[in-house]
Amino acid sequence: MTYKSMPKVEIHHHIEGAAPPKFIAGLALEKGIDISKIFDADGGYAYDGFGEFLATYEAACTPLTGPQEFYRLTQAILAEAAEHGVVYLETFISPDFCGGGDVAAWRDYLAAIEQAAAEAEHDAGITLRGIVTAVRHFDPDQANLAAKCATETAGDFITGFGMGGAETHLRPADFAYAFDMAREAGLQLTCHAGEWGGAAMVAETIRDLGVTRIGHGIHVMQDPNLVAEAVEKGIVFEVCPGSNVSLGAVTGWNAHPIAKMRDAGLKVTVSTDDPPFFHTDMTREFTLLNRTFDWDVVDFSALNKTAMEAAFCDDATRAKIAEKLGDAQ
Ligand code: ADE
Ligand code: ZN
Repeated sequence: MTYKSMPKVEIHHHIEGAAPPKFIAGLALEKGIDISKIFDADGGYAYDGFGEFLATYEAACTPLTGPQEFYRLTQAILAEAAEHGVVYLETFISPDFCGGGDVAAWRDYLAAIEQAAAEAEHDAGITLRGIVTAVRHFDPDQANLAAKCATETAGDFITGFGMGGAETHLRPADFAYAFDMAREAGLQLTCHAGEWGGAAMVAETIRDLGVTRIGHGIHVMQDPNLVAEAVEKGIVFEVCPGSNVSLGAVTGWNAHPIAKMRDAGLKVTVSTDDPPFFHTDMTREFTLLNRTFDWDVVDFSALNKTAMEAAFCDDATRAKIAEKLGDAQ
């Protein structure tokens, strides 16, 4: 059975990380930028381990030089996601790669992304929302600039604030100011934690940043007390199994804790993170969950429902997603 046509809700996805390597290679050629070393012999992204992944990721962003490039990128990723049945997508967008943290420049990038999103909603029925995202290893001052961009543009499209990057760089509390700014602007909060850091990193992220969602969070399972706390607080885990396997955060699909997380009562969702980097898409994630854990349509409907309920969107949008999920199941 193929799960391609089943409607899906995806809430952990990086806009730059979703850029097809061919798209980036083509842009680099247009602009005379030599980033040939980031591609392997098959034209895919080349890296070995998380450190190299981050370096390749940042190099892949260099041809994304202006709003027009993000317009084209958004068109490409939404067409691809819609092909895999995604009806609602939340993507992380970093002001660092969209104007360097300058609010005026950021507004121009955002306008281009929103334009492409509006067109894709009309043409392909996929809804996009943006989560402004700080890059942790760029340090707290830069995170504060990202948060400022987020607060200035919070609204119907920018609905959340988060942070990715090198998880073991500094502690969550070092970024509290950025998250406080975002919260005060009414944005909803998520942060990568427990992908590379242990359960303590998840605990500090919940406590010091006040997030309601955790990106990845797989190492929460090291601490049964924290699991109980996360269950009690209704924390939602944005789990990306294919990403974890590809980057080596787990040793393989069989070793992935997602089934144990769900069985422990945690709220789990499934997303692709950076699909072309991990040679994945939402259809493949569902297919491998089926092969590994025997999950099927009932389980995937539950994942969709959890993601829909946890989505950083208004109630009218949530009702629209519910309708799309309901109609097709
Ligand atoms: N940025 C893009 N993908 C990421 C990941 N898997 N972890 C941390 N930061 C990221
Ligand atoms: Zn991520």
